[in-house]
Amino acid sequence: MMKPEMQKAFNAQINEELFSSYLYAAMVNYFEQQNLKGMAAWMRVQVQEELIHATKLFGYVLERDGAVELKAIAAPKAAWKSPQEAWKAALAHEQHITACILDLHAKAVELKDPASTIFLEWFVTEQVEEESNARDIVAQMEMVKGAPGGLFMLDRELGGRPAPAGGGAASAT
Ligand code: FEO
Repeated sequence: MMKPEMQKAFNAQINEELFSSYLYAAMVNYFEQQNLKGMAAWMRVQVQEELIHATKLFGYVLERDGAVELKAIAAPKAAWKSPQEAWKAALAHEQHITACILDLHAKAVELKDPASTIFLEWFVTEQVEEESNARDIVAQMEMVKGAPGGLFMLDRELGGRPAPAGGGAASAT
């Protein structure tokens, strides 16, 4: 069974991942309003990714005979000054999530819970990809700044992002 302090930290991370999903859903809405349908589609996939992260954590807590505590999810921002600013906010958010995962991993080491450290290694690796994805798009947005044709092309390209492997959140439970 998981130590209460570890369980509390896992529950806090479940909330972080659900908030991530909520934040990216707000970005879907924002990009749709900007007529950037490809970016909205990319973010729809990200909403699913975050639900997968939350449900992986959820499943693990239950597997360890722990109790999942679902707390209120904060309301995300609804609009950004520009699409560039939205992508920068996505990158900053992923950097925050990486810090949360590293803290959670450090807590598992501190509490001598090797099952949790091993489980969290997947998330440590995943965060490398999450940050890299957002950083690449921030850089591409910078390249097309002031060039509507470039923005149009980038939007189309981002719209081709495939759905998460396994078909979505349901498969991760
Ligand atoms: Fe669940 Fe985007 O980190």
